[in-house]
Amino acid sequence: MKFASISDFRPRAQRRLPKFAFDYLDGGAGTEAGIRRNLQAFDDLQLKPRMLVNIEHRDLATTFFGRKWAAPFGTAPIGMGNLLWPRAEEAIARACVAAGIPYTLSTPATTSLERMAEIAGANGWFQLYVGRSEEMVADLVVRAERAGYDVMLVTVDVPVPPRRLRDIKNEFTMKFRFTPRVIYELVTHPLWSLQTLMAGMPKSVNMERYAPATGALPVARYMSSQVTGRFDWNNLKQLRERWRRKLVVKGLLTAEDALRARDLGCDGVVVSNHGGRQLASLPATIDVLPEIRAAVGPSFPLILDSGIRSGEHIVKALAAGADFVLIGRAMMYAVAALGRAGPKVAIELLTAEMMNCLGQIGYTDIASLKAAAPVLRRR
Ligand SMILES: Cc1cc2nc3c(=O)[nH]c(=O)nc-3n(C[C@H](O)[C@H](O)[C@H](O)COP(=O)(O)O)c2cc1C
Repeated sequence: MKFASISDFRPRAQRRLPKFAFDYLDGGAGTEAGIRRNLQAFDDLQLKPRMLVNIEHRDLATTFFGRKWAAPFGTAPIGMGNLLWPRAEEAIARACVAAGIPYTLSTPATTSLERMAEIAGANGWFQLYVGRSEEMVADLVVRAERAGYDVMLVTVDVPVPPRRLRDIKNEFTMKFRFTPRVIYELVTHPLWSLQTLMAGMPKSVNMERYAPATGALPVARYMSSQVTGRFDWNNLKQLRERWRRKLVVKGLLTAEDALRARDLGCDGVVVSNHGGRQLASLPATIDVLPEIRAAVGPSFPLILDSGIRSGEHIVKALAAGADFVLIGRAMMYAVAALGRAGPKVAIELLTAEMMNCLGQIGYTDIASLKAAAPVLRRR
């Protein structure tokens, strides 16, 4: 079958993954209205076209954080990525390097940050979760620095664990157990199960070394004990002092918070609602982006994620004030649907859709699109 859009990957991903893994990827918090709102807000935003422009030669290249990228998007950090397909993280990172776009490794990823630095090189960004243990955070920062990451995203929108109803019903928690239902799912998805078994059960390798004891249960207990509501602006300031390279705050949704992050010396903000995974009642990022852009000024780096499912969405985000975009589920549906071939297909699809969209509305490059900001909002 030919994949004409990202939405074609999702049903195939659903068929190939055990239910607990698909729900972990696809699901959101509470009623999941946040996910629907993210998608609806992108659909509702319209682009203002201009015709009779020579658009024969179009270019998506973008300079961001001091270097040139082939396109203005990269991948969002995804915890437990290899659960969605064996060695998914490595496959995605390699495809990003080949395509000239950034790959972001999550703290609870299943590939070590040192190994990923070797694979992704200068295309690798690192996402930090600030846990309860100060020693762990300090050590992760030193390790990221030593490994050579230039950009660190600190995620601040998980003050408390989310209530994801699908995960709760599936009993998919950090203290994951092999219940009869899980075993049934494994048996009925033999390709995933076999390949996962061969590749080795995915583990949170970046964090497990800090647990007081080895073994699945002590590590799981340690990790759930790390979620802390304690991280505040003072802690962010300390992190800013400790990490001298690019520091980006991921998970802000208001002009006040973005301004505060800018004034504290952060190098950028990811306007994100965690893809609707933390709370169903948060606003869509594309809706709050204009007021955040107006507050922080034209030159402060703003990245946007949550709800991006097409190249057209990426064009809309840039036209509405973002400098760069992160792709979350869109990439993971592709890798779950197509295995290690998926990331390349997804990147090519998003790139082709962006190219088409730019041509349709009369722009040849990202800089002129951003300068014109051709969005129309229905009132
Ligand atoms: C399965 C899954 C795991 C995620 N894990 C993390 C994580 O470890 N750290 C983080 O900052 N964000 C995490 N996120 C949020 C993404 O980085 C991103 O903000 C979100 O997926 C964007 O929304 P989208 O999926 O609609 O594109 C995760 C998202 C998903 C779908």
